Amino acid sequence: MQITPLNAAIGAQVDGVDLAAGLDAEAFTAVRQAWLDHCMLLFRGQTLTPEQLTAFAARFGPLEPPPGSEKDLRADSGADEAKDMWIISNVIEDGKAIGALGDGEAEWHSDMTYLDIPPTASVLYGHEVPPYGANTWFANMYRAWDKMPADLRSEIDHRRALHNSSYTSAGELRKGMADVTDVRQAPGAVHPMVIEHPETSREALFLGRRTNAYIKDMELADSEALLDRLWDYCIGADFTYTHNWQPGDVLIWDNRSTLHRRDAFDPSHRRILWRCQISGSALPSAHAA
Ligand SMILES: [Fe+2]
Repeated sequence: MQITPLNAAIGAQVDGVDLAAGLDAEAFTAVRQAWLDHCMLLFRGQTLTPEQLTAFAARFGPLEPPPGSEKDLRADSGADEAKDMWIISNVIEDGKAIGALGDGEAEWHSDMTYLDIPPTASVLYGHEVPPYGANTWFANMYRAWDKMPADLRSEIDHRRALHNSSYTSAGELRKGMADVTDVRQAPGAVHPMVIEHPETSREALFLGRRTNAYIKDMELADSEALLDRLWDYCIGADFTYTHNWQPGDVLIWDNRSTLHRRDAFDPSHRRILWRCQISGSALPSAHAA
């Protein structure tokens, strides 16, 4: 097994591993440590069944089902062998989307931070990918926090923020949700803005997403201005990696220490990704108020 950083900011490529065959205990320990160290891992050239993908993902912890709003987008129709996997796709079959998120851009986010306990990790497998476009970007929030100017750090290190649950990262209103008219009253979860990672104990910036975010106990205009400064800063080139998909790619990222986004792509191209998500644990503040 070879583990090679993708760039100075985030991610590593793991070569010499066949995920379909499974990993022995020693190999998995190395992969898991690399995932914690590099925040995101890439495995190229894999050929996986739904069972093999879910078996790999489940090594990292208990799997959890897709969000309620996306349950009817499972292309597997609830087949047992794929019950813990769901589909990200723009493909329409018989007039119905077979997966979530369509072909548009998805804004920078961590997955499902509108829950009190967001997932630990997400896994994507490139079952069918377009020839270009639909790149997935990642940003390292340990690094963003470590390098953040002191004046900006001091403005947030005891703060908490509201992570709104109303929209998907593709900007679609979730089922049963109403438009947000006041971010201070929006539904969602409140998290520390700087967390202590539950496994590495390292401190990381934890922003969720920009849309409808609100920093608790601040005037609305001040919250908006500070959030804009933070987002301008934390998605700079010094913190990011852009992934160009190839069929057979497997990505796993640490949802606690990263952000990700997706470029839009040509709607005439097919894209089918299989996805698993690992259940999370509580996210303590790095700096108790
Ligand atoms: Fe996501």
